[in-house]
Amino acid sequence: MSSTDAAPAAGLHEIVAGYQHGHALGGRFYADPALYEIELARIWHQGWLFAGVSAELPSPGSYLVYTVGACSAIVVRQHDGSVAAYHNVCRHRGSLVATQPSGRVRNFTCPYHQWTYGLDGRLRQCRAMPADFDQSGYSLLPVHAAEAAGLVFISFAASPPDLAGAAGLFAAMAAPQGLAGARVAHVAEYEVAANWKLVWENNRECYHCDVSHPQYIAANYDRYDDGDMPAARERELAEVTRRSQEMWAAAGLAVTHASAGLAQFPSADGRVWYSANRTPLVPGYETESMDGARVAPLMGAYEGPDVGVLRLRMLPNFWHHGSCDHAVITRLTPSGLGSTTVRVMWLVDGAAQEGRDYRLAELLPFWQLTSEQDWEICARQQLGVQSPAYVPGPLSAVKEYNVMGFHAWYLRALGEPQGG
Ligand code: FES
Ligand SMILES: [Fe+2]
Repeated sequence: MSSTDAAPAAGLHEIVAGYQHGHALGGRFYADPALYEIELARIWHQGWLFAGVSAELPSPGSYLVYTVGACSAIVVRQHDGSVAAYHNVCRHRGSLVATQPSGRVRNFTCPYHQWTYGLDGRLRQCRAMPADFDQSGYSLLPVHAAEAAGLVFISFAASPPDLAGAAGLFAAMAAPQGLAGARVAHVAEYEVAANWKLVWENNRECYHCDVSHPQYIAANYDRYDDGDMPAARERELAEVTRRSQEMWAAAGLAVTHASAGLAQFPSADGRVWYSANRTPLVPGYETESMDGARVAPLMGAYEGPDVGVLRLRMLPNFWHHGSCDHAVITRLTPSGLGSTTVRVMWLVDGAAQEGRDYRLAELLPFWQLTSEQDWEICARQQLGVQSPAYVPGPLSAVKEYNVMGFHAWYLRALGEPQGG
């Protein structure tokens, strides 16, 4: 089930017609309410979305609610250990059924007239209905759900695209990270004053890193790109990569991203857009912390600290950075034309205990700072692109290739691949 797609296409064609390949998107992409509704219908309610981590659903009846635009899903652990999801809409008169963001229940009872549903979505109780009332026709409507490598995905689409490629790659790459058995150490939720596309565009380039992220660039090679890197750093990266690949291959860990800069997303042809890679840290860094020193016990199956950073991402709402000792997951949710709710989650090994094995004061700052620096950038940009004076400028082919890639995916997902 998805929201209808009856939004006026004429406005969309006009907006897309103004797009120039290799340039930033025009202001209307970030300021047109009808386009925002089309994005919800064609992207957010059609594809797969990251909903949460398995650790948030530890036992039968554990649930979380994920709401995107007009669609709200209850995602709940079943008695058989699987994960199911339902539209959070009562089959009686349509009230939201679950009103808390998460929790643990035996049944879901609608707060309005107390129709009660089992974990399997079936209607179990409904007072004052006729004796011959057939409850079997009033189950909560299903939402597609899938769990892979400790990550939970949902799709509001009636017939979602095939998730197998992404789920398979994530499962293979992330198995040693141990996300499935991880502990959620901390969650930070931000209301970022920027359209969701600005947040992605910012995430897909490190052109801004030198000035904006001093602590982030100290840990990795993201600030450099092929063809834009000092020769000494190029030699260092080649050597670090060679050693890392040898070590990771020996440890049974999956392949790395061997060149400088941000890994390119695969082509925009697929309906599910995702990628995964393992990148080296700079010498002296064992993890993505302020000084590179470990901040928690080794996670999952890692036997030593030298595992670089495992990066996973899937459009339109998920990215992950996993070090040897902790992982950080970011989930984006559009909350309006010019606002995005961003949930950042820190995970540690399931056996680690706060105070004894890790301290939040050491665990959080690296990604807290990096994230908050980015949110500020995005909010400033939102204000600029709303101005009538804004004219989209050219992108750097060396630095912003993934922004172009994001645009290609976005236009295709809108059904407007001819843009530019
Ligand atoms: S709307 Fe849910 S029980 Fe009436
Ligand atoms: Fe950034």
